[in-house]
Amino acid sequence: MTSVAQGTGVGRGKVILLGEHAVVHGCPALAAAIDRGATAMARRSAEARLSISPWDVDVARADALPLARAFDALLTAMEIDDVQIEATVSLPGGAGLGSSAAIGVAVLRAIDALCGRSRDQSSAEELALIWERVFHGNPSGVDTAMALAGGVAVYLRNPPPGQERLRVVRPKAPFRLVIGESGEGASTKEMVDEVARQLARAPERTQKTFDAIEALVKNAELALIAGDLRAVGQLLDMNQYLLSSLMVSTSLLEEMCAAARDAGALGAKLTGGGGGGCMIALVDSDERASAVEEAIQALGRPARTILAGGNT
Ligand code: MEV
Repeated sequence: MTSVAQGTGVGRGKVILLGEHAVVHGCPALAAAIDRGATAMARRSAEARLSISPWDVDVARADALPLARAFDALLTAMEIDDVQIEATVSLPGGAGLGSSAAIGVAVLRAIDALCGRSRDQSSAEELALIWERVFHGNPSGVDTAMALAGGVAVYLRNPPPGQERLRVVRPKAPFRLVIGESGEGASTKEMVDEVARQLARAPERTQKTFDAIEALVKNAELALIAGDLRAVGQLLDMNQYLLSSLMVSTSLLEEMCAAARDAGALGAKLTGGGGGGCMIALVDSDERASAVEEAIQALGRPARTILAGGNT
């Protein structure tokens, strides 16, 4: 273990292709890292502080903000207190793109680098979850696992013995996703709590919805590996229908998905906790991507295209 004057770390943002919410209750989710996330730089300091740009946040570990509480919980778990972190995030907050997990992972990696420690994926996942729980209450862990690993993967919260929580998926080819931002702020924790209430109120019906989502996830994994984007698109649409039945969609998200489909997307759905945040649309060419971006922008909402399943 060699410590250095400063350590840096990176955490990735992600989109959930299929399986959000059901993943909290033990079903698999299929997720892809995106080209944005967070970076952090750690150095020794008498007072532990965390600043995040461009959010203009600067906290000490004793402050009351959730960010300060997450920082404090992470430092306690990592048994370190004389560290100052400067983090930079390139994701919108509360948009379902995993910004809190990306920051947590960047911070923990920067501290590990400062202290000259290395750790495996599972130990890093556990630490990052300590951070993430402050924001999301009962996170499945998919955001933190993807922030650490990147790529495209299937995540299972409680895998059977001998199976990894995160399994890498290798799509036949990289694929284009248009990401549209609804601009509606959403709390993942509230949406997760709402679905948990539905499960308590109507266990059979809600479990059936989760089972249906699980079947979609399994088929989408196979379709991605086979390069059958048309099938993936149909599965995204079906997943969106089931998410609406769980009441986590909004009229604006529905409108954005419909506009994307009308402009030639193969399929579209919300991504992440819902209740606002972002939607994704799968497209099969750059021309289609531009048409879908324009259709979403015509609703006054920002949109941009990413290539997933490549080096992200
Ligand atoms: C994660 O981005 C979205 C949810 O599935 C919550 C979770 O998995 O922790 C809704």
